[in-house]
Amino acid sequence: MPIDIARLSAEIDHLAQFSDVPAPAVTRVLWTPTDLKGRAYLRQLYDEAGLDVRTDALGNTFARWVGSEPGLAPVATGSHVDAIPHAGKFDGVLGVLGALEAIRALKNSGHKPRRSIELIQFTSEEPTRFGLGCLGSRALSGARTPDQLRALKDADGVSLDDARRNAGFDGSLETVRLPDDPYHAFVELHIEQGLELERLHLPLGLVMAIAAPAALRVEIVGVGGHAGATLMPGRRDALLAGAELALAVERAALDTGSVDTVATTGLFQVHPGAVNSVPSRVQIEIDARDINGARRDAVVEAIQKAAADIETRRKVTFHLEILNADPPATCAPLVVNALETACREIEAPFQKMVSRAYHDALFMARVCPIGMLFIPSRGGISHRPDEYSAPEDIARGTDVLARTLAQLSKG
Ligand code: GLV
Ligand code: MN
Ligand code: MN
Repeated sequence: MPIDIARLSAEIDHLAQFSDVPAPAVTRVLWTPTDLKGRAYLRQLYDEAGLDVRTDALGNTFARWVGSEPGLAPVATGSHVDAIPHAGKFDGVLGVLGALEAIRALKNSGHKPRRSIELIQFTSEEPTRFGLGCLGSRALSGARTPDQLRALKDADGVSLDDARRNAGFDGSLETVRLPDDPYHAFVELHIEQGLELERLHLPLGLVMAIAAPAALRVEIVGVGGHAGATLMPGRRDALLAGAELALAVERAALDTGSVDTVATTGLFQVHPGAVNSVPSRVQIEIDARDINGARRDAVVEAIQKAAADIETRRKVTFHLEILNADPPATCAPLVVNALETACREIEAPFQKMVSRAYHDALFMARVCPIGMLFIPSRGGISHRPDEYSAPEDIARGTDVLARTLAQLSKG
């Protein structure tokens, strides 16, 4: 497959320049001016590649190479291009620009797809702005209704509806959900974000299942006061209650006894945030995951129980909200087999594995057969500026994606 790795690497680097922090870190948050500039750059690339482009009311973007039988359900591929604060340049981006390069390579090799091939650039896979990951794919799959979407507000109190309209996406949210049986298959290329491929010295991972993610938002209200004049007895320090909760989150994950359970308190905001003031209020966000959905649910319950206990003991008030608690997803034999055939065509060894990170494929699994292809992440590092995948691994993954799309678009 004529993969142009120099062009693809240059495009990944170029997109990384659309960032709100200095390189090598990348911050690109949903519908910020930076995100919109990145989107405009990608739109230009899709147009140059001769793809038919449509954007929905949430900004999900669909770039289609029309097949010889356009009435058939297309084969879809893609990922996201938003980046959490101080991220790297490959997470999600590889699955979008790699898919574009795969389509260009197929075009250049003279391939004529029977089914259309559609590249989807999903809106906000990262939960940064509205606290909800996979915003675009959730809406496309019907996992969140338009009314539920309209109820979302960001940390500044801006509603999703106002934010999207300000960004120029003003169609009806009712039109976002995909029709029944929208795609023959969906395949997502992504960096592994873990250590398994590197440890095994293998260049490719075929995902068999995606772990179940959950997220909780907790506000704890205590009583503030002067740090010198408020004596220790009777204090109702919101931060200390939150600190106990963070330790309980760690305990809940460790207590399952499985390495597949993970739980993280990744956000902790203290009010009023002054060294000489007893914290009166904290905002916390917690992420809990497992490849076993029931075990993940048990972790969420353990966190809720711990919260109730701390609330009583420390005489503070907890407002706990479960933002999402999604089931795991299984990859379909149709897509896994096509990926496997493609790997064998180029004699590339691979490992079948679980995705511990979530991806838009988790929600696409609700509407069509899915599969995912991983390439190694150096040191297993991701969601950090030093995230890195080698050009030869990127080229190989793109090649396998192109062959997989070719195969699936014939069927
Ligand atoms: C996706 O970015 C995740 O947090 O798994
Ligand atoms: Mn990510
Ligand atoms: Mn990602």
